[in-house]
Amino acid sequence: MALIIICRGLGPERYDRALRALAPERDIRMWPDHGEKDNARYALAWNPPAGELASYPNLQVIFSPGAGVEDLLDDLTLPDLPIVRLVDANLTMRMGEYVVLHVLLHHRRMLEYQDQQRTKTWRLLSQPAAEEVRVGIMGLGELGTDSASKLAHLGFQVAGWSRTSKQVDGVENFAGESALDAFLARTDILVALLPLTPATSGVLDTRLLSKLARDGSLPGPVLINAGRGGLQVEADIISALDSETLWGASLDVFASEPLPEADPLWSHPRLVITPHNASISEGPAVAAYVLEQIAAFEAGGTLTNLVERKRGY
Ligand code: NDP
Ligand code: OXD
Repeated sequence: MALIIICRGLGPERYDRALRALAPERDIRMWPDHGEKDNARYALAWNPPAGELASYPNLQVIFSPGAGVEDLLDDLTLPDLPIVRLVDANLTMRMGEYVVLHVLLHHRRMLEYQDQQRTKTWRLLSQPAAEEVRVGIMGLGELGTDSASKLAHLGFQVAGWSRTSKQVDGVENFAGESALDAFLARTDILVALLPLTPATSGVLDTRLLSKLARDGSLPGPVLINAGRGGLQVEADIISALDSETLWGASLDVFASEPLPEADPLWSHPRLVITPHNASISEGPAVAAYVLEQIAAFEAGGTLTNLVERKRGY
């Protein structure tokens, strides 16, 4: 009944260490040196080589150490097994910190103050109150809901857009394609926390960005993307910044990661870049979560936070 860790590019050793510490009695093995494939019942998988998961004849459950699972679903040979994605308080809290930090950074005009510091300029810029600024969160799921609530507590006018309708205290709800334009038209700072699916791929393009509000109390609209790089059309973001369709942006995720050195995004003065660290899946948190799910499964209970393959998240 082995659990195989197949995590490329995500520091698999931390999961190995944490799983062994919490469950010394369990048979835990690291891909690719894990011996017989027949023994594997569970896989903890992030960005596995295509075809790899299909090669374990007795696999029963696939666990993702991340919230996003497009890397798994992209594998056309993926066996038809339950996929449990990560939903974790630590992951959610860290994302909330990132979103609040970057909303405040643009709201408090920090890029301009940093410019002023470089030229030793002492000048106050106009500063709206939070209650005059409209934040819109695309994706009102585990992460989006928490970030929306945190921003609402700070006094921002917060709205969320999702596929189906949601009720979140202090957050205006917009649901479905038909509500997207109205959601964008009332949004000064747009935060993307959508999963990458065929329906969301490339959604952050010129067309969408040009629908953001232009009558707000900040100098112009802002984009913050901490969902996935595939949501954004990167050339469109650069032209939107150049044409002031966007006044500023923070991007944590990119079509190609690490972001190539030659990429023009690196040097845009109105853009803040972070290396896909908005949130992270900590070893002990992932280990405890996976072991709890396995214990429930082996006791005949149900797995939770299952991915719905058809919708892609
Ligand atoms: P959830 O599945 O809980 O939430 C996804 C939300 O997106 C839901 O509200 C869903 O709507 C909405 N949604 C999905 N597709 C559409 C669509 N076509 N139109 C409108 N709304 C849509 O995911 P999480 O909140 O846990 O995570 C979100 C994403 O954040 C992950 O998929 C991952 O890509 C990213 N992430 C990034 C990290 C980073 O460090 N940068 C860290 C962790 C996650 P509904 O509920 O109605 O179905
Ligand atoms: C995730 C991530 O999906 O870290 O959890 O990006």
